[in-house]
Amino acid sequence: MYLNINNDKIHSGEIDILGAKNSALGIIAASVILDGDITLYNIPDLYDIHVMIEALKQIGFNVFFKNNTLKITGEANNFILSNESLSSIRGSYYFYSSLLAKFFHVSSFLPGGCNLGARPINYHLEGFASLGCDYVIFDNHIEIITQELHPNDIHLPFPSVGATINLIILASTILGVTHIYNPALEPEVLDLINFLNHAGAKISIKENYIEIMGVTKLKGIKYKIIPDRIESGSYMLLALTKTFSSISLNNTNYKHLEEVIKTIKNIGGIVRLNKNKITVISPKKITPINITSGVYPKFPTDLIQILAAILSDSYYPSTITDTIFENRYSYLKELKKLNIDVKYNFPSYQVSSSHIFNSAKLICSDLRGAFSLFTSCFLTHGHFQIQNVDFIFRGYNSFLDNLKKMNVSFSLGCSTDNLLF
Ligand code: UD1
Repeated sequence: MYLNINNDKIHSGEIDILGAKNSALGIIAASVILDGDITLYNIPDLYDIHVMIEALKQIGFNVFFKNNTLKITGEANNFILSNESLSSIRGSYYFYSSLLAKFFHVSSFLPGGCNLGARPINYHLEGFASLGCDYVIFDNHIEIITQELHPNDIHLPFPSVGATINLIILASTILGVTHIYNPALEPEVLDLINFLNHAGAKISIKENYIEIMGVTKLKGIKYKIIPDRIESGSYMLLALTKTFSSISLNNTNYKHLEEVIKTIKNIGGIVRLNKNKITVISPKKITPINITSGVYPKFPTDLIQILAAILSDSYYPSTITDTIFENRYSYLKELKKLNIDVKYNFPSYQVSSSHIFNSAKLICSDLRGAFSLFTSCFLTHGHFQIQNVDFIFRGYNSFLDNLKKMNVSFSLGCSTDNLLF
């Protein structure tokens, strides 16, 4: 699908932020190890979530999803996940730990997700192995099995979000004490811990490790997912473009966005905070900066591409470094179509522009890169086309409704009727 944007005015708007996709994925998978009915609120209505729901149904649960509320009843009766769509999303690997905890066995597809580089899962598998599991990988499948799970001290080589979540889920039902050293402490990890603790788990965060005291039973609960800080941050950055005056976000949490707010202020934007509402006001001109992404609480890798689009709109170069993923650059060749100058010095690059073109056809190839290209269409007035816009729909709830709320003129088409360009 493609999105034509006719950018002929100054935009502003107020939109609602939904629950964090990356929290929801872990928490939905972790629901497998709870006994009793579960209700999850603030769940975004996104492709990845629907894939997780189908998987829950396939292993025996009754699932009802309406108005961003997910009700899960029944219980899992098998450990084989044969739905191929699981290989199209990253979060499907959270079922590995929950099914292992429940059945001592899981058979599934390897995870997919955006192409940001190699994205191995060795930390997950080495962690599972140290808790007593064996695994075999063949074609696009994985089989993990254990005779007996036991607690252990796990040292993660890097604070991986996915590995931390998977190991917490598995360890939470292993009797004894497991420590995860060098864990990721992203808000989404803390949300999972909060969810499991509400259900009866005993998980605590120490100075440089997470301590998990395994329990025999976790009970069904009602739980509200935290707001999506990446969705929030994306729209906060969009507000900095020349053809936006401001954007207000409701139902968000500025405490998860401190580094993003600091960066926006450094660029020249104004940020107003009022309880659960954030308003960002566009600057008259962009102040160039040097920025490096890092693990939380540093600037998130998921927002670095969108920030790059903003920083492009300056004659003076900004230097951007992404230390987390080695291949988060494919969108840069698309930005060049707008006359944005990119100088590579991997893992850093510089962006600048003396004159941004007012027409271009931009092709998306990953979720956040897609939102970056979308953002670049607001750096100047003109007509733009975003191809493969479906990538954006995968991470941004009610995206087209939000465009309407921000008074953006657009039309949506499928690739075969692409007549504009
Ligand atoms: C999660 C998020 C993703 C976000 C990323 C970093 C989900 C579903 N996705 O991805 O949106 O961009 O955190 O905030 O929550 N690594 C290994 N071996 C492993 C695991 C990771 O080498 O077993 C490397 C990765 O290649 C990467 C780094 O560690 O270079 C961080 O990856 P990780 O934090 O695990 O990211 P994801 O959980 O895949």
